[in-house]
Amino acid sequence: MSAFPDGFLWGTATSAHQVEGGNTNNDWWDFEHNPASAARSSSGDGIDHFHRYAEDFALLASLGHNTHRLSLEWSRIEPAPGEFSRAAIAHYRRVLTALAGTGMTAFVTLHHFTLPRWFAVRGGWLAPDAIDVFTRYCAFVSRELGSLMPFICTINEPQMIALHGYLEGYHPPGVTNPVLWKRAGEALLGAHLAAVPAIRAEATGRIGLAVQLPLLAPARDDAACDAFCRAMRHEIVDRYLDGLATVDGGDWLGVQYYRKQWVDPASPTLFAAPPPGFPLTQMGWAVHPDGLREMLHRAAATGLPLYVTENGIATDDDTERVAYLEGHLAALARAIAEGVDVRGYLHWSAFDNFEWSEGYRPRFGLIAVDDDFTRRPKPSAGVFARIIRNGIAS
Ligand code: BGC
Repeated sequence: MSAFPDGFLWGTATSAHQVEGGNTNNDWWDFEHNPASAARSSSGDGIDHFHRYAEDFALLASLGHNTHRLSLEWSRIEPAPGEFSRAAIAHYRRVLTALAGTGMTAFVTLHHFTLPRWFAVRGGWLAPDAIDVFTRYCAFVSRELGSLMPFICTINEPQMIALHGYLEGYHPPGVTNPVLWKRAGEALLGAHLAAVPAIRAEATGRIGLAVQLPLLAPARDDAACDAFCRAMRHEIVDRYLDGLATVDGGDWLGVQYYRKQWVDPASPTLFAAPPPGFPLTQMGWAVHPDGLREMLHRAAATGLPLYVTENGIATDDDTERVAYLEGHLAALARAIAEGVDVRGYLHWSAFDNFEWSEGYRPRFGLIAVDDDFTRRPKPSAGVFARIIRNGIAS
């Protein structure tokens, strides 16, 4: 018997700005071109997915995937406040039609990190009407494309947008302010909760939120560090999961898990370097597969069905990717055997792509992309295809 239930969804995830290329009208483009920012390079042409989406979907389907997650670029769809582009909607209608044509189920994210430049300039998530403006965009897209979006994800990782953008200064707007960090987080959770009824009024797709759930542990065995870890867990994990339970938080929850992290109030970054003994990725992240099982249990407390909407490793050594994939899928299978309702697994990522402030150096893809945009599946893509067909070796 397979460890994964019938109808389990298998595939990969991407986001518009990381693969499309030419997204010049958003806050990330400005951040990438600001020499004083944390970003190392321009997203430039991406992997030219904007023009090559049909061949990309065909390739993923040929690898046995039955699902694919992508995002719509808000700055293309609404290039100026309240001004919606018919050409951009027509483009995404073609994209989603091509995806449906391969037989793969679409997970469509409406906001994956990038904001239209005009939205960022007027205060981003801290502007008084930010939630209304976001909700208007969600309603418009749902009206136009609803029939092509079986799974709709409102926002990708609200906690990471708040943490990276407002506390660490690592993402736009590059702010380092604990008060604004919390305010941005509240606005983002509020934006999701307001978007749910607005989308329901226009579309029948199943609505969810994708949260990153790192396994957080105190760096030292002392009371102060312990209390600080609990506070960080509240800000990064509990505030969001508990927030979904109070009202209509949606129909499903996307769990994104990459690593274990050690929290340290004495560190300027608030996190300590991983202790020895944990394999590290190109990002310096500690690999700890069982953390996925633990965080799935935590997410299950929301009562929502779960999908792993991201999980993956940055490495130039594809054998490490195979080990990561097998280790995390075994942890996922254990969570299912223990009764957690997980209905799909989407690996991050389909392709090597633009890794935000780190540029193109970290390689998260099952498929490599040459300078001339030729796609080359790595051995890990074959291993994933075999697991989809046969399950995992026990
Ligand atoms: C994001 C992706 C990103 C990945 C690896 C997640 O935080 O949703 O856009 O590329 O992690 O860093």
